Amino acid sequence: MLSEKSRPVIAQTLGIIAERIPHITPVFYRSMFEARPDLLDGMFSRANQKNGTQPQALAGSIAMFASHLLNHPDSYPDEVLSRVAHKHASLGLDPREYPTVHEHLFKAIAADLGDAATPEVVAAWDEVYWLMADALIALEKDLYARQANRVAFAPFRVSAREAVADGVLAFEFEPADGTPMTPAVPGQYVTVQVTVTDGLRQPRQFTLVPGRPGHRRVIVREDPQGEVTPVLHRDVAVGDVLELSNPYGDVVLDPASPAPLVLVSAGIGITPVLAFLDQLVREDPEREVLVLHADHSAAAWPCREQVREYVSQLPNARLVSWLGVPGEGDHEGRMDVSRVEVPADAEVFMCGPLPFMQAVRSQLVDAGVPGRAIHYEIFGPDLWMLHDEARAA
Ligand code: HEM
Repeated sequence: MLSEKSRPVIAQTLGIIAERIPHITPVFYRSMFEARPDLLDGMFSRANQKNGTQPQALAGSIAMFASHLLNHPDSYPDEVLSRVAHKHASLGLDPREYPTVHEHLFKAIAADLGDAATPEVVAAWDEVYWLMADALIALEKDLYARQANRVAFAPFRVSAREAVADGVLAFEFEPADGTPMTPAVPGQYVTVQVTVTDGLRQPRQFTLVPGRPGHRRVIVREDPQGEVTPVLHRDVAVGDVLELSNPYGDVVLDPASPAPLVLVSAGIGITPVLAFLDQLVREDPEREVLVLHADHSAAAWPCREQVREYVSQLPNARLVSWLGVPGEGDHEGRMDVSRVEVPADAEVFMCGPLPFMQAVRSQLVDAGVPGRAIHYEIFGPDLWMLHDEARAA
């Protein structure tokens, strides 16, 4: 809980800090990577630094945390902390790095605010930082303790690779040493370390899709402008060994809930849907499920046949598609949820590009689904979670 001493100081300075974040973050990251270039090797994504999403996510989440402490003094924003802790743990973040971020972030804040960074202001923000850091450290410690091994990454050999749609490959991995594998909960992801063209290791998270026992399977759409997916598509062959993390991620089904499910995806966002459908076939085949998918075309839709196969094995499931090519799907063009009947008591899981999810979320809320029943997975740093709109009831 925030101390009574810091509370009014945070209330007074939250506005200015939030406004200055875009100016503070580039200075913070520049100074941190100058002092610690090793953090760009296998830890931070260089692409997310370039496009600015990660800097905004980290500093923005601290401002969001401070605002939560002011408005709800007795609680923490658990959803946000959980997402960040899972992402951190998937990168093997060591708690001893929290002082590193603290040092460079606070140096940048002091430089930006100048005289306004009085000792009182700095002490209050220090308190916020460590409240958040300690909450994350505790969650991460618990996540590490739940693994079947004590390593952040283990070597896995590519045991198969195959095309599953235009421009989309599936990679299957088998353990390349004796490290015990933590079983994944459907919907979780692993971090894969890829050595890119200049020799730097770059981490990326991929949702696990159903596969053979004792293996990990992911599907990867090539982004020609990307730094990692072209290397995976072009250079990674059967027999190659890559480092994979344990499985993490908190966007998973609640097995105790009987609520009807609505699974919404676009493009490569089909990956958690595949994992959920496989789980339902095995564990809860009578569940009422509505699967909604949007894609450019039938050929671009990853694992289309597999999705249809799962749906045919679930007596109370229905699949509705929106495809860009006339006549190929149930509907043409963009997803329009008003074309289907969504049960008001449904639990919704979405995965796809952010503008797609924002549009569908509004449609669902208009259709009477409460915001708290809408869950989403986003690939890359989540800036949406920093806005109440993404979480509000
Ligand atoms: C990701 C917050 C400390 C390394 C993130 C994200 C947030 C965040 C909001 C984005 C999560 C997502 O949506 O995917 C924080 C906060 C911290 C903190 C509030 C301190 C209180 C650290 C430290 C390190 C670190 C100490 C390591 C030195 C990372 C990395 C990512 C990440 C590597 C992945 C993002 C990427 O490069 O794409 N963090 N973080 N964080 N954080 Fe932290």
